[in-house]
Amino acid sequence: MRLPTFFLKSLPWGRCALALSALGALSGCQWMRMNDRQSVMAVDGPVARSQLDLFYVTCWVTLVIFIVVGSVLAYTTIKFRARTEADENAMPPEQGHGNPFIEVGLIGASVLALAIIAFPTFKAIGFTYDVPEAEKATALQVVATGYQWWFKFEYPQEQIQGAGNLTTGNELVIPAGRAVHVDLRSVDVMHSFWVPKLAGKVDMIPNRANLLWLKADHPGYFWGQCAEFCGESHAVMRFRVIALDAKDYADWVALQKQPAREVAVPAGAVPKAQFASLRDFQANEIGFPADDPLELSPLDAWRAKQFPERDEDPALIAQGKALFQAKTCIVCHTIRGIPAAVGVRGPDLTHVGARTTIAAGLLENNSEQLQRWIHNPSLVKPGNKMWVEGYLVNHIQLTSADEVALVAFLRSLK
Ligand code: CUA
Repeated sequence: MRLPTFFLKSLPWGRCALALSALGALSGCQWMRMNDRQSVMAVDGPVARSQLDLFYVTCWVTLVIFIVVGSVLAYTTIKFRARTEADENAMPPEQGHGNPFIEVGLIGASVLALAIIAFPTFKAIGFTYDVPEAEKATALQVVATGYQWWFKFEYPQEQIQGAGNLTTGNELVIPAGRAVHVDLRSVDVMHSFWVPKLAGKVDMIPNRANLLWLKADHPGYFWGQCAEFCGESHAVMRFRVIALDAKDYADWVALQKQPAREVAVPAGAVPKAQFASLRDFQANEIGFPADDPLELSPLDAWRAKQFPERDEDPALIAQGKALFQAKTCIVCHTIRGIPAAVGVRGPDLTHVGARTTIAAGLLENNSEQLQRWIHNPSLVKPGNKMWVEGYLVNHIQLTSADEVALVAFLRSLK
């Protein structure tokens, strides 16, 4: 009896209670966040679902092992504990040298547990590796390329006269209900392509052809993330997947194939003074908080982005377009419609105004955040090439008026 009494007395009960309540609160939070935007527990597609099912199989098997081993341990601890002074001073019981029945039984049970996990694992590896035969003919082909620190998405099945593959940056638009085969490439270091609710994660490795496939069951807006450390801005290398129904997807492709939108400037128009504010940096998450009834759903926010902005200033846009060329932005960015803008080091900006995010999914695509980004990209994404190899090498200096005009131009590119 001495051991339990000593044990009970020596416990710091206050701290134990605190730790237990913290654990309870933590687990409560975790349960509430099961459907968070990058949760793998609330999925929307066959690939992520097969990975989730496999996770549950492993959980159940290990839970059974935990209960069996824990029960035996608890039973023996209580049943064979020292009850009296004599027990404590007694010699240890005679030691055995194994029991063939128990040993063979334990080996058999372990093999069985491994087999229960292994068979669904092999099945899931086969299923998630590539698009199923039956869906190969109709699958959408996408080439995703990792750059430090953004994603390029190309659609080889959608060719544009004189410009090759339809190309976008950081927002991958796909048709819902259709398999998507993604070729994974990298131009510099290792990255990893991960859309937790749809599929993942597979590395993008230089000089190596990797692939994955995914399918969204429903139209939706999905958060993606580079999942392999790739340098100082790895943590902010994000992207989005936007799944649309067949008609919306066809409309999007048709719009994307168009060259950059031209905004006609009425004769004699002069730019109106516009002031952007940089104070809203924190409030830049699309569709969050999700429980705000006045907030557009992320997919609706994306849809709204496809239309021209209401506060457009044609003269200011024309000024921004001239600056985009004069300030050498064209060296790194393509804008179909501006003949000299054929750079490929940065994202294709032909329709950048129609995206919900900029800076690889980090900032909301609005005037404030656009100006914040072009004002000093290195403050937003440390070490990025736009700053190091663009601004610094080419001595790019922008006045506030330049920034406002460039922002107006970029926002007009729908
Ligand atoms: Cu790219 Cu981490």
